[in-house]
Amino acid sequence: MSSVDLNDRIPNNVDLASDRRLQRALEQWQPAFLDWWREMGPVAGAAPEAYLRTATSVDRSGWANFGFTRMPDYRWGVFLADPEPDRRIGFGDHKGEPVWQRVPGDYRAALRRLIVIQGDTEPASVEQQRHLGRTCPSGYDLRNLFQINVEEGRHLWAMVYLLHAHFGRDGREEAQALLERRSGDADRPRILTAFNERTPDWLALFMFTFLTDRDGKFQLHSLAESAFDPLARTCRFMLTEEAHHMFVGITGLARVAQRTCEVMREHETDDVRRFGVIDLPTFQRYLNFHFSVTLDLFGAEISTNAAGGYTGGLKGRFHEPEIDDDHRLSHATYPVLQWEDGEFRKVDVPALNALNERLRVDFVADVETGIGRINRIVRSFGVDFELALPHVAFNRRVGAFADLDVTPEGTVVDGETWRRREEEWLPSESDRAHVRSLMPEAITEPGKFANWIAPPSRGINHQPIDFEYVRLD
Ligand SMILES: [Fe+2]
Ligand SMILES: [Fe+2]
Repeated sequence: MSSVDLNDRIPNNVDLASDRRLQRALEQWQPAFLDWWREMGPVAGAAPEAYLRTATSVDRSGWANFGFTRMPDYRWGVFLADPEPDRRIGFGDHKGEPVWQRVPGDYRAALRRLIVIQGDTEPASVEQQRHLGRTCPSGYDLRNLFQINVEEGRHLWAMVYLLHAHFGRDGREEAQALLERRSGDADRPRILTAFNERTPDWLALFMFTFLTDRDGKFQLHSLAESAFDPLARTCRFMLTEEAHHMFVGITGLARVAQRTCEVMREHETDDVRRFGVIDLPTFQRYLNFHFSVTLDLFGAEISTNAAGGYTGGLKGRFHEPEIDDDHRLSHATYPVLQWEDGEFRKVDVPALNALNERLRVDFVADVETGIGRINRIVRSFGVDFELALPHVAFNRRVGAFADLDVTPEGTVVDGETWRRREEEWLPSESDRAHVRSLMPEAITEPGKFANWIAPPSRGINHQPIDFEYVRLD
């Protein structure tokens, strides 16, 4: 088991000390990262101490050590899951060959691009979330936000390690550029659109961590199959951290829905805004927005790029080893939803070209499970409202449906109708203003929660719910 040396300037389990050149390069990048964190990391007032988990090794017992940390002192480091002995490539043209420890020249540009795109999302989400500490509904939630933020920072480290260790000078330049782009900036935006949207309030944060971090899960799973072993091992470890981010999302949404339903029952009315909670139609509109922008992250339904990534062995499918086929897909087809002759229909296309779509379908099934869980809470209050995912063609900017105007139910309408009815489907300025109005200031007193959200059912790491998760002094 590889352990982590937390006393190193850069904690790591990759024996950084044995590669002085790489160590020096990362030590030079480190102050630039800290400058970025100070400029773009969470706005947290006077350096609070938060009850955070920090990895001390990558096995089950060691990767989640809890203790109080002042955030700028968090030990960001480089951790890879332990190598699998004699690991073989699981798919594509090189199936069955030993995995690569070095980047093959033929795949250098494509691999670098995959790593840069993944790496760019990590600091982007920290930037998107940086003001939320000012309006947190509790110290428990603030702690969760900080945990996510430091781990997204660590995911940036993970990708930067790969760039520095395996891509020479271009890798170093890309690592620098990752600190220079800014979410939402007109001149140097983050690479993917969803990571340039704002995350202006806590309902948006819970939607983001439920949906957009879940896109991360599916991307990381497919990169965890990569023939480039250092990338696969990096992503495997990142997935253990990602699980908590999605937990924050689903439990956050469940607590919002629960609180709303409590108030609906208590006052026997749907008209709950005046009681200081989030009405379910607003909840649904936020869901419509975040779901549709997250679907765009999977890319075009039909993609020769994705095919090249698969045949090359760079990026596999979700749970590749468990799929019962030849893992080459040279003759296979896959049904892809298309808009043809005035209707949506599934059309069989070469499976290799449909890998983005396949990953998106896997993602949607996972999201449906979460929505089912929230609907069960709503039903348990006897409330007659069912949350539903919008049609996949609704509000898309990328892929086959980008030019269509489609309602959440999946009816294609003309542009004027869509614009006229948009506020029924996407959060309006008044929805956002209402949500903001519920969060005028940070609530941090231990055990206290904002009115619009129920307390969690349990605390972090077996601590009580009224534990002082963040010490602001
Ligand atoms: Fe991440
Ligand atoms: Fe995440």
